[in-house]
Amino acid sequence: MTFEKHILCIGAGYVGGPTMAMIAFKCPRYKVTVVDINPGRIAEWNSDHLPIYEPGLDEIVRATRGKNLFFSTDIEKGIRESEIIFVSVNTPTKTFGAGAGMAADLQYWDKTARQIRTYATSNKIIVEKSTLPVKTAQAMKRILTSEANGIRFDVLSNPEFLAEGTAVRDLEKPDRVLIGSTQTPNGLRARDVLVEIYANWVSKDRIITSNIWSSELSKLVANAFLAQRVSSINSISALCEKADADIEEVARAVGMDSRVGGRFLNASVGFGGSCFKKDILNLVYLCRYYDLKEVADYWEGVVKINDYQKDRFLLKILDALFNTLADKRICLFGFAFKADTGDTRESPAIFVARQLIEEKARVVITDPKALKNAMKDMEGVAGDIAYVEDPYVACEGCTAIAVMTEWRTYAALDYERIYRTMAKPAFIFDGRNILDHRKLFEIGFNVFPIGKPSLTHF
Ligand code: NAD
Ligand code: UGA
Repeated sequence: MTFEKHILCIGAGYVGGPTMAMIAFKCPRYKVTVVDINPGRIAEWNSDHLPIYEPGLDEIVRATRGKNLFFSTDIEKGIRESEIIFVSVNTPTKTFGAGAGMAADLQYWDKTARQIRTYATSNKIIVEKSTLPVKTAQAMKRILTSEANGIRFDVLSNPEFLAEGTAVRDLEKPDRVLIGSTQTPNGLRARDVLVEIYANWVSKDRIITSNIWSSELSKLVANAFLAQRVSSINSISALCEKADADIEEVARAVGMDSRVGGRFLNASVGFGGSCFKKDILNLVYLCRYYDLKEVADYWEGVVKINDYQKDRFLLKILDALFNTLADKRICLFGFAFKADTGDTRESPAIFVARQLIEEKARVVITDPKALKNAMKDMEGVAGDIAYVEDPYVACEGCTAIAVMTEWRTYAALDYERIYRTMAKPAFIFDGRNILDHRKLFEIGFNVFPIGKPSLTHF
């Protein structure tokens, strides 16, 4: 079969895999290839056990793989044969040198640009899919055009807004697709090629275009605004606990103002995920770089409140359990950073589990999808840690349960049965406010929600 377009994606991760699977699914006339330097990851994409858990993803991969969707380690061939290259490699926070702990580590990005330059034999449109500091496209263009080989590279910014756990739905019905380009005739022509790809399933009024720097910056700002909402509600949850107010009632009252909106106002043990913290720190670094101290401090506050919320949760457990956790078994319900994913990157559960071990508690971790990643996260932590799939078995003999992830299954468990098997007095710390607190109290638990008065039998 001859394909109308040949699309390549470099980076087969949480973004590259699902995004390309959706393009292949919606555009059978395009050949879509996803490459990665990690052969293990590519082997998993080619197997029955995909490397990431995402509701609905198995189905679209099964429908397209081997037909117009291909996963491969042959980066050179991929680059040679495609006219459009999405770059979706990881851009973690730098851990060394200047900007350590704040700036984006662009080494994978830089290497990819050089690979493209080395192997390209014809003109290419390069699409920045990764989240990047503003002005990265300029650096990319400079690397790509540093050898006078007559090949034209047009660089576009097309940040991804999908959230994990809802990636397939977000990709199928995005709130918007953003495409940034230079305003030159070549830049605008490249932009139109990308618009045409998305227009196969996204209505034109949801495909917005902008200049390339606005596009790069919008992605960082979108994540900063979302995280800011979580930190705002979490900061107020601390006040609610002091003032006998209920954070859910406050959130409902505030969110019903249509100017504010009710979504993304769930108080929690803190936000996690690979991007919120990284992208805000990146924004803060950029502001400092441009000498905008007040702006940098303002946004850094979002990360500080998140750290404060995680600390507060741990101190609440310590305080409620009579200021000693030594030898007490504590069960963590959930380890993923949110429900419907196995991803544990920056999960608040990592912080809580490590701190519990510091306090010499015995930690039992249960999660329907994230136990493998939890084991990796806790590797090298010396202490008593058990990983148990069945939540009923996991909390046997435990003094406390701490809900870390809002998996729906945890709300539906038989807590009378659980209570009978636990050490007494038994405690529940609901870090996601998903349980029926009154009912748990009546069963006999001492209950500590977030941003609501605790219910205790003492
Ligand atoms: P990831 O770590 O899951 O995947 C990145 C992949 O790139 C890895 O498999 C890695 O092996 C591969 N890679 C690195 N260097 C390479 C190279 N030179 N050649 C080929 N492959 C290479 O990361 P992710 O979560 O998919 O995130 C990718 C980017 O998308 C980041 O910039 C992130 O901020 C952004 N983003 C992520 C999400 C999300 O939900 N995870 C959402 C929106 C945007
Ligand atoms: C987030 C954004 O929602 C996406 O738009 C963006 O593309 C992505 O980051 C990215 O750039 O990586 P994601 O991190 O996958 O997506 O998940 P979210 O649903 O945003 O949740 C992030 C964290 O905030 C989770 O730990 C979640 O539990 C927490 N959260 C979210 C709350 O504590 N309360 C809320 O009301 C909402």
